[in-house]
Amino acid sequence: MPTTKDLVSRDNFGSKFGIIAAAAGSAVGLGNIWKFPYVAGENGGGAFLLVYLFFVLVIGVPVMMSEFAIGRRGQKNAFRSFGVIAPGTKWGVIGIMGVVAAFFILAFYSSVAGWTLEYIVISATNKFAGQTPQDLNASFNTFIANPLRPVIWQLVFMVLTALIVLAGIKKGIEKYTKLLMPILFLLILILCIRSVTLDGAKEGLAFLFKPDFSKVTGKTILYALGQAFFSLSLGMGALITYSSYFSKKENLASTAVQVALADSLIAIMAGIMIFPAVFAFGIEPSSGPSLVFITLPGIFQQMPGGSVFGTIFFILLAVAALTSTISLLEVVVACFSEELKISRKKATVIATVAVSILGIFATLSFGPLENVKIFGMSIFDILDYTASNVLLPLGGLLIVLFVGWFAGRKITKSELTNKGKLKATYFPYFRFIVKFIAPVAIAAILIYSIFWGGL
Ligand code: PHE
Repeated sequence: MPTTKDLVSRDNFGSKFGIIAAAAGSAVGLGNIWKFPYVAGENGGGAFLLVYLFFVLVIGVPVMMSEFAIGRRGQKNAFRSFGVIAPGTKWGVIGIMGVVAAFFILAFYSSVAGWTLEYIVISATNKFAGQTPQDLNASFNTFIANPLRPVIWQLVFMVLTALIVLAGIKKGIEKYTKLLMPILFLLILILCIRSVTLDGAKEGLAFLFKPDFSKVTGKTILYALGQAFFSLSLGMGALITYSSYFSKKENLASTAVQVALADSLIAIMAGIMIFPAVFAFGIEPSSGPSLVFITLPGIFQQMPGGSVFGTIFFILLAVAALTSTISLLEVVVACFSEELKISRKKATVIATVAVSILGIFATLSFGPLENVKIFGMSIFDILDYTASNVLLPLGGLLIVLFVGWFAGRKITKSELTNKGKLKATYFPYFRFIVKFIAPVAIAAILIYSIFWGGL
């Protein structure tokens, strides 16, 4: 039984909408709006989308339900929750890997998040006006290679994140995600409507929705799985940490389904927003991480009111990023404060400073540190690759093994049904997936990528 002290000292979400906003806020982020379109663009468009949605449904949702069950049962940070369910075992290592993954992701993520702030300023002051795609390309590359500006913006972003996390769960994370998520949805809706009404939108929509299966390779499958984990915030304890603040009345399965649906919807909307524009302006859909920073400004400046739409878009990106960075930082802060027994404030400061240092290296890898390569990749790319394609799937694999084979049927069922109060006709399927399908599928893809796909 929790003592009175535990009940007093542990913050909680105050409402159902707050839970959905926070969890969907974590899931919906740069992964959907910046990464999904270019990874899909590089990996075959529509075919990638289908493989991706398949993974979200068959592997993502069960892994998310597993994370929710672990967190709410454990009522502790991502490391300790395993220890509460399985005392004296080594499963907590998943939580430690999660903290490492949070460091890696935050480091490169805050770098891109920082770019969005610069681009809000550029759009709002109408600096895109009159620039050709080549000019935009050049100014983007000059900006990210600058040794100072991107670092400053990155630090601004980290401070914003830290301030929200510092304010706690109810008064920080819940309050801001409840406010920001509806704004985000509205902004993306406006931009989708603008994009599909562009001349030449059809070709872009066809690229996104007409699958060309000849483009599906082993790499497509690996990236689709990595992207599903990344986009749903799985495999690193963000959702374990959040669910440790869920109320005992929350229906974990329906929450997982709603979050996965919201996340997929926003990824598809991002595709609808971006690809028609890409085709309408003759830009390569596979132009990589710079896609949204070059393509979209090119479009905005050619349309009436472009500066307004541009500003809206980059605010949208920043908002989406912020509701995700807070969930990443919370993983580290919850772990530091509970495990090292330090105040939330101290934990937030330590975590923010530590992540920012690594983050600066990631940011500088587009400029002064451009020649530093690890396994042939830049610092930024290696952090992204290791987290998205190795740590998250590996974390997901261990989580389903834990829930499927170790935590026990009873505990899992009790969490998913709220001690028998909810019906769970899906339970046998869920068990089958977490015991067999998900582990085999994730392991096969991981082994393939490590041994045959190559780094
Ligand atoms: N899901 C976030 C996005 O799509 C990124 C993220 C990954 C956040 C892992 C938390 C944990 O942008």
